[in-house]
Amino acid sequence: MSNQSGIGVAFTGSGSAAPEAVLDNENMSRVVETSDEWIASRTGIHQRHLAAPGESLKQFAAQAAQNALNMAGISAADVDLIILATSTADDLFGSASQIQMAIGAHRAAAFDLTAACSGFVFGMVTAAQYIRTGAYQTVLLIGADVLSRWVDWGDRRTCVLFGDGAGAVVMQASSVGDRLLGFELRSDGSLSNYLTLAHEGQPRELVDDVAIGQGSYQPIQMNGQEVYRFAVRKVPEVIEKALFRANLTVEQIDWLLLHQANQRILDAVADRLALPKEKVISNMARYGNTSAASIPIALDEAVRAEHLKPGDVIASAGFGAGMSWGAAIFQWGK
Ligand code: ACO
Repeated sequence: MSNQSGIGVAFTGSGSAAPEAVLDNENMSRVVETSDEWIASRTGIHQRHLAAPGESLKQFAAQAAQNALNMAGISAADVDLIILATSTADDLFGSASQIQMAIGAHRAAAFDLTAACSGFVFGMVTAAQYIRTGAYQTVLLIGADVLSRWVDWGDRRTCVLFGDGAGAVVMQASSVGDRLLGFELRSDGSLSNYLTLAHEGQPRELVDDVAIGQGSYQPIQMNGQEVYRFAVRKVPEVIEKALFRANLTVEQIDWLLLHQANQRILDAVADRLALPKEKVISNMARYGNTSAASIPIALDEAVRAEHLKPGDVIASAGFGAGMSWGAAIFQWGK
């Protein structure tokens, strides 16, 4: 995708982190009435990492961020902007500035961005705009979520799906090319009831004629079948749109890197795009669905395993609550 400034985006480092504690499907069947066979065959998930009571989103996010900075070979002081894609901040006012402090990125502005499981792709596109306009040179993009805090642990239709973790990438200005080749972002609030983590307030009258609604956020509720249908229909479509903008064809994709929600969704999307299974990056067997963290964790593992090499073309797509969905076609590397 061309831009007027002549400044492009490069992807120079990745990192990830997850809680130590692991709950496998066998142990999950002690929490709710389920089985390894049911979970594995319907979702591809075998285990998930879960944050312990004293652990915070900030910790995992800062660790992932530090790992990404190390790979990029830069220090936290070089970072101009931190974008934290999350729906589960430690503090509803935002957690990005706490991560900024934790890693010592004292020059960086920092803010949270919420687009559920699409957060990382929305964040990547946002980061690229700051770089392409010349406003910032170095952006640290983090996707992190601790959904275990918000899952109904009595609801077997949802609690088996989610896990906790964080992933990060360093995006830097480049004068030799633009590695973000094309993107497409979409939202449809009319479908928001498919997947919610909604605030529910009880009316409380403060004085005559002035009442407020005070309460708390309710656990995740999901219409699994509608989410499945939505993802399988919309994700191939949005990838094709982003490919068109990148002036590329499906054959030119080296890797399909989708939000890790469910193996059946990954398989169905790959099928619809006629992409062979070898090109599909998948790690949900070990992590479950980590929401905004799932794409950068899978990306980081593929980079560190040297499956994914500099110059490879990655078709990445996020999809989830909102509903929101989006695709970014990018090349790894400087
Ligand atoms: N263990 C055992 N049985 C279960 C479980 C479980 N964990 N969960 C549901 N069941 C039962 C149901 O009670 C139901 O039994 P019944 O027929 O006796 O009532 C039966 O299994 C089938 O239930 P469905 O909800 O119809 O199961 P489905 O085949 O749709 O699979 C699933 C559920 C895996 C969630 C599927 O709908 C799906 O993959 N949806 C996509 C949703 C998704 O990926 N969400 C992730 C979050 S959103 C995001 O990240 C985009």
